[in-house]
Amino acid sequence: MTPRILLTGKNGQVGSELAQLLPRLGEVTALGRKELDLSNIHDIRQAIHEVRPSLIVNAAAYTAVDRAEKEEALARAINSDAPAVIAEEAKKIGAALVHYSTDYVFDGTKRTPYSEDDPTNPISAYGRTKLAGEEAIRAAGIPHLIFRTAWVYATSGKNFLLTILRLAAEREELRIVSDQFGAPTSSREIAQATTRVFAPRISDVGAGLRPARPQNVDPAGFLADLAGTYNMTASGETTWHEFATTILEDCSQLPRDLPWFAAATGNRPLIAKRVIPITTADYPTPARRPVYSVLSNTRFAATFGFTLLAWRTQLTSALKG
Ligand SMILES: NC(=O)c1ccc[n+]([C@@H]2O[C@H](COP(=O)([O-])OP(=O)(O)OC[C@H]3O[C@@H](n4cnc5c(N)ncnc54)[C@H](OP(=O)(O)O)[C@@H]3O)[C@@H](O)[C@H]2O)c1
Repeated sequence: MTPRILLTGKNGQVGSELAQLLPRLGEVTALGRKELDLSNIHDIRQAIHEVRPSLIVNAAAYTAVDRAEKEEALARAINSDAPAVIAEEAKKIGAALVHYSTDYVFDGTKRTPYSEDDPTNPISAYGRTKLAGEEAIRAAGIPHLIFRTAWVYATSGKNFLLTILRLAAEREELRIVSDQFGAPTSSREIAQATTRVFAPRISDVGAGLRPARPQNVDPAGFLADLAGTYNMTASGETTWHEFATTILEDCSQLPRDLPWFAAATGNRPLIAKRVIPITTADYPTPARRPVYSVLSNTRFAATFGFTLLAWRTQLTSALKG
């Protein structure tokens, strides 16, 4: 039987990629905020009741890290309470749940990659609300996968890549933080990896070249032994400064009329000549960020038999649009 899949957050960076790939696994009902507002618990229950999925993929989240400092209650409703209700409803109908979380559940005091078992200690409202969402899902006792990812970007949406391109079209000099370490991860890689976890027999889930071919996977049964929390980030590590420099190097080769690139730059040439490294202290933000939030992907690799590409390779591939 073809599994029924409910996807939330279909317009987000990760959600929009999943909306393209998940049809390979089953019959997908993809909902954006307009169709399902996760701040409304009644609507969440109703949507799950109506669709009766065997797999729920929750790609929706409150991701405005700085704004969350002032709107923690709203961030909590979407990042903590909604996943709790989704998990509760999943339990009632025997559905499995895939959910995404963040490197910002850690405080960043380590200097070697964080494993899933390292103690969490979020230092921002966003991190606290995401951790509470994870905990609610784990407590529900359902087959679940929580994928902790980091520094997510795409050629659409709101992210560091597009911000750097906008600034580089406006200014000759950029000042970028060089003392925070992480692993920029492309949303397409996250969606491809998620799909590949469920379809290990499909070797090329990302190319989009094959017709959608729903698989006969029973998500709850499949996840029974694998349920848990997994880091899922690009391999390697970098700083925001090095990431910005690399973006600008790579983008200097791109045709200016590439649609996403033209949109990011407002169709203007890149005029930035210098990317100056600065410290976190030089760039105060409402939310504190971990200084070091590189995650170890060892558990993911050992369990699922593959790793995500290195951040540098992911960037090259993402820029192709
Ligand atoms: N972005 C990052 O750097 C990052 C880093 C680590 C982990 N993550 C995690 O990765 C997952 C995917 O993030 P992303 O980068 O794809 O985020 P994103 O681009 O901000 O997408 C999140 C989506 O959630 C939707 N949403 C927000 N509030 C909602 C509500 N009340 N009801 C329904 N939908 C709502 C947004 O809708 P609108 O389009 O209407 O705003 C948006 O489409 C999230 O769990 C996030 O916490 C992200």
